[in-house]
Amino acid sequence: MSDSLLQLRGLFKAFPTGETSVSILKNASLSLTAGSSTALVGPSGSGKSTVLNLIGTLDRPDSGEILFEGTDLTRLDPIALARFRNRRIGFIFQSHHLLPHCSVLENVLIPTLAFDHRTPEAAVIRAKRWLDRVGLAQRMSHLPSRLSGGECQRVAVVRALVNDPSLLLADEPTGALDRPAADEIGSLLIELNREQKLTLLVVTHSLELANRMDRQVEMREGRLVDLPPFRA
Ligand SMILES: Nc1ncnc2c1ncn2[C@@H]1O[C@H](COP(=O)(O)OP(=O)(O)OP(=O)(O)O)[C@@H](O)[C@H]1O
Ligand SMILES: [Mg+2]
Repeated sequence: MSDSLLQLRGLFKAFPTGETSVSILKNASLSLTAGSSTALVGPSGSGKSTVLNLIGTLDRPDSGEILFEGTDLTRLDPIALARFRNRRIGFIFQSHHLLPHCSVLENVLIPTLAFDHRTPEAAVIRAKRWLDRVGLAQRMSHLPSRLSGGECQRVAVVRALVNDPSLLLADEPTGALDRPAADEIGSLLIELNREQKLTLLVVTHSLELANRMDRQVEMREGRLVDLPPFRA
């Protein structure tokens, strides 16, 4: 168990729909090994983003446990949760959500402004190193409007990494990109997983991207089910 970074145990989650509610997660369980890469697939509306939001502590389950290095996140108070989220988890979404009036470097530094556990100078050094690593060294002072969609998503990846998280959660990270840009982001995520031992959980509709991960898990009728490897 020592190499298990994250364990979801018996998660239930329902959302209200008018007078009743609809159960989205029905006893969903999953264990992620530190340093692993996992694709989360499944039909639209099956609950993939719901799972990511629960792990990312943006929402809480109705019942069940979310153990991160053994600590049950469902029991943390809001301040502890915000600190945990800021330091340990990186998020990437389908849309990059960069702030349009901030430069690339400023966008990347935003997560370092909360809970100032390290010096601002060190944060700038980390940010610049990462931007260089993803090929954006010449773009640091540009506004996002001057970048392509793929470049913006690379900035979003760096913003997710700037606090050195243990877990990177990506929700359809290539969904808004054309094929070459999607392949590039996919390759970057895989490289980060291998080089940095960053644990990766990626929601995707792309079979291509899913098959580049170590493991594929499907959201099926409210549960998380491992798929056999190397399917066509
Ligand atoms: N905050 C909410 N309030 C009410 N219903 C919600 C809420 N969040 C999600 N749902 C519902 O829960 C179901 C699962 O949503 P979720 O976004 O997790 O699906 P998904 O698998 O990510 O789908 P997609 O592939 O289209 O992104 C959907 O029916 C959605 O409408
Ligand atoms: Mg979704």
